[in-house]
Amino acid sequence: MEKGKPQIYIKHSDIKRRIKELANQINNDYKEKIPIFIGVLNGSFIFLSDLIREIKINCEIDFFKLSSYGDRKISTGQVKMLKELNCEVKGRDIIIVEDIVDSGLSMTFIRDLILKQKPSSFKIATLLYKKEVTKINFGLDYVGFEIPNKFVVGYGLDFAQKYRNLNGIYVL
Ligand code: IMP
Ligand code: MG
Repeated sequence: MEKGKPQIYIKHSDIKRRIKELANQINNDYKEKIPIFIGVLNGSFIFLSDLIREIKINCEIDFFKLSSYGDRKISTGQVKMLKELNCEVKGRDIIIVEDIVDSGLSMTFIRDLILKQKPSSFKIATLLYKKEVTKINFGLDYVGFEIPNKFVVGYGLDFAQKYRNLNGIYVL
């Protein structure tokens, strides 16, 4: 599929500044705690790695991997688990780290999965939030930017596995 050139939507410097703010909030909220940041692969890897370097409290990191989009832009409505968690969730303070909450399907799946394992607390950090189109019946705790219903790439987000390396957020 041929696409136009990606147009810049959020500059790297703005992302960096916003991530610092989110990290400060997390540093305050988790004083005396050792949360586990759980990144959702692949999209969250850049956000998580930048976020974590602004985190001053002790913390742990784990990842899991889901798939629902394949190489299409519209969700297939099905979420598959491609890589499971390694950490013990029970009794721990969990912070899920996502690149974007779009339909909300993935986050609903993740939330159900984690809550079943009885964490001591559960929060969600997402760099981007398509509030207008998301259907969820729970709150998002740390949101980088609310964006309109446009398909974005860069800073970890892909289209058909490309553009993850762009250092800002771009509209295709
Ligand atoms: P949801 O289940 O529809 O909320 O979408 C979740 C996943 O789809 C995200 O974690 C992304 O990996 C991917 N996704 C959703 N919207 C976009 C987008 O605009 N650009 C790139 N990936 C997206
Ligand atoms: Mg993702």
